Amino acid sequence: MFEPVKIAPSILSADFMSLGRDIAMIEEAGAGYVHFDVMDGHFVPNLTIGVPVLKQLKKIARIPVDVHLMIANPLEELPWFLDAGADIVTVHAEAFDGPEQMEQAIHLIKEAGAKASVSVKPNTPVDAIAGVVPLLDMALIMSVEPGFSGQKYIEGSEAKVAQVVQIARAAGHELEIEVDGGIGVATAPGVAAAGADVLVCGNAVFAAQDPAAALRAVQQAADDARLLALAGA
Ligand code: DX5
Ligand code: ZN
Repeated sequence: MFEPVKIAPSILSADFMSLGRDIAMIEEAGAGYVHFDVMDGHFVPNLTIGVPVLKQLKKIARIPVDVHLMIANPLEELPWFLDAGADIVTVHAEAFDGPEQMEQAIHLIKEAGAKASVSVKPNTPVDAIAGVVPLLDMALIMSVEPGFSGQKYIEGSEAKVAQVVQIARAAGHELEIEVDGGIGVATAPGVAAAGADVLVCGNAVFAAQDPAAALRAVQQAADDARLLALAGA
């Protein structure tokens, strides 16, 4: 059955001085989630937003807030974001010393009533998360090296999306697959056809002349590709 993809604009590319206006604008344009990029200066060479901004955002957002934790100590710091009201929380497979720790983080997220997601960076194989796929609400495939918005999509990332689809199918488990990095009208069709359900867009939306129109254009391009893929399946 056809389901439209969800666009998750990354507020890293928004106007922080007018964040409330930008959130209202993307909600109006039909965004599925607000993507909230947390970087700690250790896991990635950049430092962004954290708990105080998330708390304020949660007071005004009418759609779920999708928190992407690019942090070195998820087990220690994850509870802060859960307490602040994160709806979906993504942790990185690379931040853990093995699968037990990763499972522990997933359980922490779920116990708090949030949706649990795990991500792999471009050089991390999907195998790293295959064992926990049955526990996940979402899996995030990074299609750029995490750290900065506005980078170029790494060709071939759609193959990793297809791999997650296969693993989930084999396990009889349903989850959302999100892709993050360099997604716009040109790259959205490939990942949508491969099975992506959620597309993060930073620059493609917020750096556009008309962000609402840009969001709808990415949505349209992705949905067309998804429909075509379904028809061919
Ligand atoms: C990158 C972040 C992304 C990024 C997306 O490390 O996780 O969410 O802001 O920005 P674009 O869509 O511009 O690549
Ligand atoms: Zn992100």
